[in-house]
Amino acid sequence: NSIFNSSSLFFIRPPTTDPFRSQSHHLPPKAKAAAAVISDNLVFPDPDFSQQAHVPNFHKYAEMYKRSIEEPAEFWSEMASEFHWNNKWDQEQVYSENLDITKGSIHIQWFKGGITNICYNCLDRNIESGNGEKIALHWEGNEPSHHSSSLTYNQLLDRVSQLANYLKQNGVKKGDSVIIYLPMLMELPISMLACARIGAVHSVVFAGFSAESLEQRIIDCKPKLVITCNAFKRGHKVINLKDIVDSALSGSSQNGTYVGLCLTYANESALKREATKWQTERDVWWQDVVPNCSTKCDVEWVDGEDPLFLLYTSGSTGKPKGVVHTTGGYMVYTAATFKYAFDYKPSDVYWCTADCGWITGHSYVAYGPLLNGATVVVYEGVPNYPDPGRCWDIVDKYKVTIFYTAPTLVRSLMRDGDEYVTRYSRQSLRVLGSVGEPINPSAWRWFFDVVGNSRCPISDTWWQTETGGFMITPLPGAWPQKPGSATFPFFGVQPVIVDEKGKEMEGECSGYLCVKTSWPGAFRTLFGDHERYETTYFSAFPGYYFSGDGCRRDKDGYYWLTGRVDDVINVSGHRIGTAEVESALVSHPKCAEAAVVGIEHEVKGQCIYAFVTPVEGVGYSEELKKSLVLSVRTNIGAFAAPEKIHWAPGLPKTRSGKIMRRVLRKIASRQLDELGDTSTLADPNVVDQLIALSDS
Ligand code: WT7
Repeated sequence: NSIFNSSSLFFIRPPTTDPFRSQSHHLPPKAKAAAAVISDNLVFPDPDFSQQAHVPNFHKYAEMYKRSIEEPAEFWSEMASEFHWNNKWDQEQVYSENLDITKGSIHIQWFKGGITNICYNCLDRNIESGNGEKIALHWEGNEPSHHSSSLTYNQLLDRVSQLANYLKQNGVKKGDSVIIYLPMLMELPISMLACARIGAVHSVVFAGFSAESLEQRIIDCKPKLVITCNAFKRGHKVINLKDIVDSALSGSSQNGTYVGLCLTYANESALKREATKWQTERDVWWQDVVPNCSTKCDVEWVDGEDPLFLLYTSGSTGKPKGVVHTTGGYMVYTAATFKYAFDYKPSDVYWCTADCGWITGHSYVAYGPLLNGATVVVYEGVPNYPDPGRCWDIVDKYKVTIFYTAPTLVRSLMRDGDEYVTRYSRQSLRVLGSVGEPINPSAWRWFFDVVGNSRCPISDTWWQTETGGFMITPLPGAWPQKPGSATFPFFGVQPVIVDEKGKEMEGECSGYLCVKTSWPGAFRTLFGDHERYETTYFSAFPGYYFSGDGCRRDKDGYYWLTGRVDDVINVSGHRIGTAEVESALVSHPKCAEAAVVGIEHEVKGQCIYAFVTPVEGVGYSEELKKSLVLSVRTNIGAFAAPEKIHWAPGLPKTRSGKIMRRVLRKIASRQLDELGDTSTLADPNVVDQLIALSDS
């Protein structure tokens, strides 16, 4: 009578073994029961953990999951009713969707007609329920010696309201867009919440993006103002952010998008005001204006389907896409996923190492945790500065209970040795999380055994900018984990694995990961380009949302993500389009042609490997390599810099002119015996030439 065999679980093939039965078999005596038990590559939760968890066992999950699929309207209405709505959504039609391109235009709506405000639900609602004096944000600066600071929910509301009033005074209205280009200062989540409070649509641009990337985003979304700071410290470096903004704003105005206001936070620990370049007609110091505004600001009530934010992300072709998330569904979904996937309790202290410039920071630094009334640590710096023990120093300092990070960081800390971890207590930790790329089993084990002392379940959360929140994720305590598997779908999510022809496969299989039917956190469109939304995500396999990822389902129904199947490269969990890097390389006057592939990298997961053909008459040189890499840094940002430039007298192309990336990938990863059939190339000699130049 296996719990997994529960007949209600019609989507998930039951496993052949009963993990819970073997668990009791291997269970250590109660006195020793501190750790999870590992058996047959299954990691069983500590029974004490399970007992206190929101979802204590697989049976409970199966029951909730079944209901979420059979009665999505009721299921999600119940989740939504935890929040404040001025006006309830349309009860007759909690959601409406068409995900089938053959039946007309793609549309997804949740909680249409419901009137709410996400900032109100993050702050005012938690204050009204008696949590005003609870810490909302703990801020930890780059320098361990730097003073840290904290804001209670009451204080955060005051700060957000002041900025919201300032924005209103400067003509920012519901539906207007605002670009936020800030590092991880308290002012970043404050700015997001202030926009949300007045119904403005924020677009956060990661502070590691270059001036050109920022300019491109400014031109695309035409913000009323840009919010930034003069400079910040990352590790040993000082980055003059304002210089980058100046260059982006002058570039955008030359291209017809003039932004007349640049609100600049003076981050004087990095750079003095006097040393900051200034344009008086446009630039305003945050500290000169925002603190003078009232701490009372009425919220702008918005429809559940009004846009909350835009976030640009890379695709396999063309320029970055402005992913649009709306208010109601995103709110309900990020809150629910946060609560269940981290087994969040009010006594938790939560730290996510992601930057708010990425979706992880939107959903799981800001909105998801604050909607739950959580205490969140916001860290300004790099996780291994001044040494690889910094994370655990912070964990001990704030008594962090839930720690959420990326596999690339786990691998890099693993390389630095256990002593940096074990010299700290880490007793407060109870749940760990991973996101951004598949976590390899050895990194998983190290994270589990060394960081978590074999006590803490790991939530390996698979999701995307587009999905708004977790899609496939463990619920800690509810079932045994398999290192490297994101395990099972979250409530309301129906993953399907399809073959090349788009045929859904059953049971144990591998193929392309799609999702059928919508979930509340789904993105609704691409800003200004609904057609691109439909062709990119809904045309490859009609009837489904296509994720771009490959995936395997094992005999027990566990999902294993295997990486992107399109031309998107995942470097340290950062998503980079090959086309963007190629266009940055080709913009170099000495580059005739370029082709970029991703290859495996020990710490970063993948790294960028570029094949470059210089223009006629230009020789190969180290100097040219450097200046090509620089071209990518200035066009996109340092995180997209190619690891290697490989000289290419020519590129392997088919007779129709298409670059055969498959061949390039093999050459780049030195798998020369796996080149495959190259006879269809226009010029098969190119391959030998490339191999000969491998180490030049
Ligand atoms: C891509 C989405 C959403 C979080 C940050 C990245 C990969 C993300 C996992 C995971 C395997 C993962 C996928 C996905 N990815 N999390 N737990 N296991 N792969 O967001 O920039 O939109 O990138 O990241 O390839 O498609 P993103």
